[in-house]
Amino acid sequence: MTMQITPEILQKLQNIVGTTFVFTDDETRNQYGHDETEDYVFPPSVVVKPASAQEISEIIKVANEYKIPVVPIGGRTGLSGGALSIHQGIGLSTDRLNKIIEIDEKNLQVITEPAVITQVLQDTVLEKSLFYPVDPSSRGSCFIGGNVAENAGGARAVKYGVTKDYVLNLEVVLPTGEIIWTGANTLKNSTGYNLTQLMVGSEGTLGIITKIVLKLLPKNSHNVLMLVPFYKAEQACEAVSAIFRAGIVPSALEFMERDAIDWAIKFIEGVNVDIKPEIQAHLLIEVDGNYPEILMLEAEKIMTVVEGFQIDEILFADTEDQKNALWRMRRGVAEAVKSNSVYKEEDTVVPRYELPTLLKGIKEIGDKYGFKSVCYGHAGDGNLHVNIIKADMTDDNWKTEVPKGIREIFELTVALKGTLSGEHGIGYVQKNFMDIAFSTLQLQLMKNIKQVFDPNNILNPGKIFPDNI
Ligand code: LAC
Ligand code: ZN
Repeated sequence: MTMQITPEILQKLQNIVGTTFVFTDDETRNQYGHDETEDYVFPPSVVVKPASAQEISEIIKVANEYKIPVVPIGGRTGLSGGALSIHQGIGLSTDRLNKIIEIDEKNLQVITEPAVITQVLQDTVLEKSLFYPVDPSSRGSCFIGGNVAENAGGARAVKYGVTKDYVLNLEVVLPTGEIIWTGANTLKNSTGYNLTQLMVGSEGTLGIITKIVLKLLPKNSHNVLMLVPFYKAEQACEAVSAIFRAGIVPSALEFMERDAIDWAIKFIEGVNVDIKPEIQAHLLIEVDGNYPEILMLEAEKIMTVVEGFQIDEILFADTEDQKNALWRMRRGVAEAVKSNSVYKEEDTVVPRYELPTLLKGIKEIGDKYGFKSVCYGHAGDGNLHVNIIKADMTDDNWKTEVPKGIREIFELTVALKGTLSGEHGIGYVQKNFMDIAFSTLQLQLMKNIKQVFDPNNILNPGKIFPDNI
């Protein structure tokens, strides 16, 4: 599939977007050749920065004519390699589609272009007392378009849902160059196949998202945040489902193993948490709403539940500063791990009651294959980020033993009625494990859908599907 970008093709791209927005220098290609997935770098042959859906459509038509791969590239914070140009070709950066088009206060909706940074979107709608709850750890640099493409989650998903729960309608450039809207700007829609939700989480393989209509909520005014230290990591996992069974739906319920929190404290400035040496894990628990008295009652109920396990003293964040520090620490875990060692990250998800069994199994598999893992994540969703740490493992064992261990972790996840990825996507790094979650028949159905949308297989080829299908 790899093919040279000839001077003739380059000229055509320049004619579409202007010479200043076509880049062939190594620095730009390398910059757009990676996301946050481990240490992979796959530069595209050329980076193109169109300004509109119309320009994207014209680029796509050229790509079809010459059968050149096109990889949509957003904020480059992805964790499954969706934005890697593994077959080179055109790296299509959405950088210039970066406007919030309209905040519709009457309907509690926002229409936005894809390259708006998620936190900017959150802050902008908040000025109008509106709330976009989906809150990935990378919100300060990820693009809302990438959130849609990967169906991003984050800490608030446990109460508010993930990106898909907010996407009402999308404008998309199809892999054949036509521009369509996928649905309607309505909260309900039972009209035909759901093309909107097919696009959400399709990881840049079915279309390039150029406009997004999102549902918003009224903002709420109060929250309570607590950090609960557990002497046993598995008990922290057990407490998760117990909290829901006690009738509480927290707005965040995050799990961090000891190393995750220790590394993040070292990595992030201004976080002071004293932790006893015997503590194995923490839960970071938040409840939110408009009525402080109710939140206090909910917090008390949570305390009663967690006190049924072996815990140390609970830390309540009293001030906004303390809350922000705890969240900075939690959001910093992924980067802290990255700065610590070569690693591989999995994004397992199981029904939440199975979390203790998953954690125990991961540790046993690690012992069997000789690797250490650091686990953290959105425990309320049953979503555990498993970071496999190279540390002093030999290169040979890293190459041969770790993939076997990962396969077993995924087999366990699926046996527990879970699946491979809760929020990071499959992309490049997980694709050869897809046979664990899906039969050939199921994968072929998905492949047929891809074929209908993208007959020349030019849009983000080599992602999601295993190499042998
Ligand atoms: C997080 C990212 C890695 O939860 O998903 O921090
Ligand atoms: Zn996460």
